[in-house]
Amino acid sequence: MSPEKLGLRFLLPLSLTLLTALCAHHFLVRKTRSIDIAGRDIDGHQFNTVDEMWKEHAGDPNRKSQWYNDAVTYWEGVDASVDGVLSGFGIVNDADINGSEDFLKVLLSERFHIDNRHQPLVALDCGSGIGRVTKNLLIRYFNEVDLLEPVSHFLEAARETLATGYQTNSDLHKAVNFYSLPLQDFTPVAGRYDVIWIQWCIGHLTDNDFISFFNRAKVQEGFPEGLFAVKMYALTTDIL
Ligand SMILES: C[S@@+](CC[C@H](N)C(=O)[O-])C[C@H]1O[C@@H](n2cnc3c(N)ncnc32)[C@H](O)[C@@H]1O
Repeated sequence: MSPEKLGLRFLLPLSLTLLTALCAHHFLVRKTRSIDIAGRDIDGHQFNTVDEMWKEHAGDPNRKSQWYNDAVTYWEGVDASVDGVLSGFGIVNDADINGSEDFLKVLLSERFHIDNRHQPLVALDCGSGIGRVTKNLLIRYFNEVDLLEPVSHFLEAARETLATGYQTNSDLHKAVNFYSLPLQDFTPVAGRYDVIWIQWCIGHLTDNDFISFFNRAKVQEGFPEGLFAVKMYALTTDIL
């Protein structure tokens, strides 16, 4: 389904980094241009279409909950550190933040006219891990940032780091809510968010849950002025 059909605006910065090991990726596609393509899962099982793969992995409530539990269990075994949430690629942190910052500056000046704005800007950091993106980027630009993360030791690390006024040393920029939830179970508070930032975690959701989240979020009052920023890596099997 195209972003236009969903009534969404996908904002994909070009500085996507090749983090192949992240997010316990399940479907290594042979071709990248169509969704109706053959591929294999991480265990090497072959599927003719993406739908076939989802049926096998999340086709009934038990499999679906297994799918989500497996991901959380995986991340529960990972260190609450930059290297941990980047699966050993902590070295890309600076480049990632710089690329996102260039993108965010354009977004804020073009879409939110921040110079004339009197309302506070609010962001949601989805699958926030230890709060790496909030701490290094979002909190400097948004007055309030909420974090959503299903893995409790990551969320606690974020909470410890992001004490009020972190970085900016100001009450005007702070992390406010720490939601201990997965994205598929979350419905944004109506009208709260200017930007919903989804970085390197959307691959954990089934296609249907991914669409459902966008639909729940976009009907909230902040949208359509509000924006989704989705950052993922994209690569072909040539690179793999
Ligand atoms: C590769 S890490 C990225 C963390 C953070 N976005 C960053 O860039 O530093 C993936 C994150 O997605 C989280 N995650 C796993 N399943 C999720 C789900 N169903 N909903 C939201 N986040 C999820 C993991 O716990 C982990 O913190």
